[in-house]
Amino acid sequence: MKRPRIVVVGSLNMDIVVKAARFPAAGETIAGEEIHFVPGGKGANQAVALGRLGAEVTMVGAVGADSFGGTLLASLNASGVSCEHVKKTEKAPTGTASITLTPEENSIVIVAGANAELREEDMDHIEAIIAGADAVLLQLEIPLGTVERAAELAEKHGKLVILNPAPARALPPSLLGRIHYITPNGTELAVLTGVDSAGEGDDSPLEEAVDALLAQGPSCVVTTLGAEGAAWKARGEKLRRQQAHRMQVVDTTGAGDAFNAGLAYGLCEGREVGEAVALAAQTAALAVTKFGAQDGMPTMAEVLNYFGQNAVPSSEHDAG
Ligand code: RIB
Repeated sequence: MKRPRIVVVGSLNMDIVVKAARFPAAGETIAGEEIHFVPGGKGANQAVALGRLGAEVTMVGAVGADSFGGTLLASLNASGVSCEHVKKTEKAPTGTASITLTPEENSIVIVAGANAELREEDMDHIEAIIAGADAVLLQLEIPLGTVERAAELAEKHGKLVILNPAPARALPPSLLGRIHYITPNGTELAVLTGVDSAGEGDDSPLEEAVDALLAQGPSCVVTTLGAEGAAWKARGEKLRRQQAHRMQVVDTTGAGDAFNAGLAYGLCEGREVGEAVALAAQTAALAVTKFGAQDGMPTMAEVLNYFGQNAVPSSEHDAG
């Protein structure tokens, strides 16, 4: 199988992570336990995860002319990601994410900064990179017009387009009609469709939401369900499910990014969607066992070592 070649167009953030026993209530001040500055941003996290799995990855994004930007580029480079098309702007500081991490979950507030400076015309400059890739992987932490232009160019060159619609927002048909795989979590699925799919155990509300999203254009919906794993459905086919792996959770930040990277990697290797979803679940499972959105991303060798016989086989597992 060939080595996947993937362009990630998205955000780079410095994650400012405060560990606390619980979230503060509105208007309340509580004492945190630790503070860490670690590389993050949904786009960069997905790029790092892809690099560690063994893909040839180009990151397209923007950072400020500051020390956070330098740290973020170093993290991408260390995972083999090409950063030649990450622009450095004087117009805004590098994006940041303020993350409160409790033993159970996290909450995140992002300040886009330089991410908001990634423009539609920047996509025109990388058309040749898109034309030479297998797939374009997108999220929603950069301007929507930029996401749309990247998807347009990918469609023009017949490339696979995968959209992780995070953070949640409604999306225009002009974008959804260009997406092959869309990967919402429960909140994002509800925002995109108006159908609340909560009520696990019974597929019908979930399938109703998935069908509502398929009707808007994407060819396949792959939805992440937290502890319930994931489910996917291509148009005209049945809803299928992937169980979650039970792990010792250290940090869930970036789990969704790991999932998207595993999915994109598997699809670009030419695997059928069920196998790609299995790899996505394995990648995400290992990602939560370490602290930090990017530091936790596993290499393909780690995926194969941990999941052994159950791991999705790959010819490209010596990277990282
Ligand atoms: O998906 C996790 C990421 O969301 C964090 O790294 C943070 O930067 C926000 O973008």
